[in-house]
Amino acid sequence: MSTIEHVEEGANDRSLIKAIEDEVAIYKERNAESLARYERACRVLPGGSTRATLYYPPFPVVIERGENNFLFDADGHKYLNFVGEYTAGLYGHNEEMLRDILSEIGKRGLMLSGPNIYEEKLADIICTRFQSISKVRFCNSGTEANLLALALARNATRKETALVFKGAYHGGFLTFGASGAPLNVPMKALIGAYNDVEGTRALIEKNKDELGAIIVEPMMGSGGCIAGDPVFLEMLRTAASEHDIVLIFDEVMTSRLSPGGLQEKLGIEPDLTSLGKYIGGGFSCGALGGRDELMSMFDLRRENGLSHAGTFNNNIASMIGGSIGLGKYFTGEACVSLNARGDKLRERLNEIAKEANTPVQVTGIGSVMNPHLGLETIKSPDDINHPNLQLFRMLMHLHMMNRGFYVASRGLITLNLKSTDDDIEAFEREFENFLQIYGAALCGE
Ligand SMILES: Cc1ncc(COP(=O)(O)O)c(C=O)c1O
Repeated sequence: MSTIEHVEEGANDRSLIKAIEDEVAIYKERNAESLARYERACRVLPGGSTRATLYYPPFPVVIERGENNFLFDADGHKYLNFVGEYTAGLYGHNEEMLRDILSEIGKRGLMLSGPNIYEEKLADIICTRFQSISKVRFCNSGTEANLLALALARNATRKETALVFKGAYHGGFLTFGASGAPLNVPMKALIGAYNDVEGTRALIEKNKDELGAIIVEPMMGSGGCIAGDPVFLEMLRTAASEHDIVLIFDEVMTSRLSPGGLQEKLGIEPDLTSLGKYIGGGFSCGALGGRDELMSMFDLRRENGLSHAGTFNNNIASMIGGSIGLGKYFTGEACVSLNARGDKLRERLNEIAKEANTPVQVTGIGSVMNPHLGLETIKSPDDINHPNLQLFRMLMHLHMMNRGFYVASRGLITLNLKSTDDDIEAFEREFENFLQIYGAALCGE
């Protein structure tokens, strides 16, 4: 969906469309400089962008800088940041942390052409925090960590097929949404239904001889912040163990929800865990960790050790960023406190929606959440299907952006370590205002 015209074609709700048109007019008027820069960017970047997530209609605002929990755009607007770089911006814009990292990088230099002390340090922190991880390999993104996980599982089991779930996002080349994914890596995949215990168990049993991996997020993040049912995840654990299948938890997004990842909160140990986003302290980073027996397949001292290469795998900026970030700033205590505040915010937003009598619910866990239109229980992305969903998302996005709240166009809301109680309360008030203005239209009146 790239323009308001596309939305209009399929929708029949005039009052919502009129509201969006009004908000688009305000948005365009406010963001003339961003539009000019966007048009210039279109000359040299296809569609003016180099990252699909950051495109939204009518055009994205250009961000000039960040400070604490604020972002400043090219037209001089100041936003409270509730995108938090799609969960990677966990630390907020923390000058002290940046100074710590840069000072350490300054002492060491870049591009050291050999192992450095910080890769061991960061690996040690990760192994200490995540119970199921006894060894780690680093790479440069969450996508890469998942590709590595699937390749390792294939080599370990000598079975080619992976079980994935409909609507899951495991990276730019591992997307299993409804709209097809022409850029996906070629792979043999079976597609199951998230949280469907019996259906998935049957699928696994029927295909156990071909299945080498199950990859799953313990909470579907991009899929809409849908919590995994512990019974479902437990079933995957049992079935994987029974049938020599490697269970991969993609915790690129969810690992921030508890000090030892969401797996710790669930009490379920996967064989492999992929990490990314905030794990490099704001620098690009991915990591794959897991059971010794699997991870040791990368040990080149062994005969037939798997050769996992990558120029920037141990780049010192990410290794320092991650060690300082996890070691000093995102401590276990900070993690618990941030997620408790997120739970409170989500509960409050749901109360506000209920008090306003609107069919809106907010799903998620801790500091990561997503509002939806429709009140049915959401167990899988197929349940996010209200006919006016796109209109709701677009309207809420534009409304919040026009009032100084930076939110993701698909609705994702995250807290970061720089989010203050005042920021959160301001967000709650604007959400209430949004529902008061558009509640009737959202109810189809
Ligand atoms: C669950 C999950 N896995 C993998 C990825 C891919 O990570 P990256 O964008 O670093 O490649 C993402 C990114 O949004 C994600 O949310």
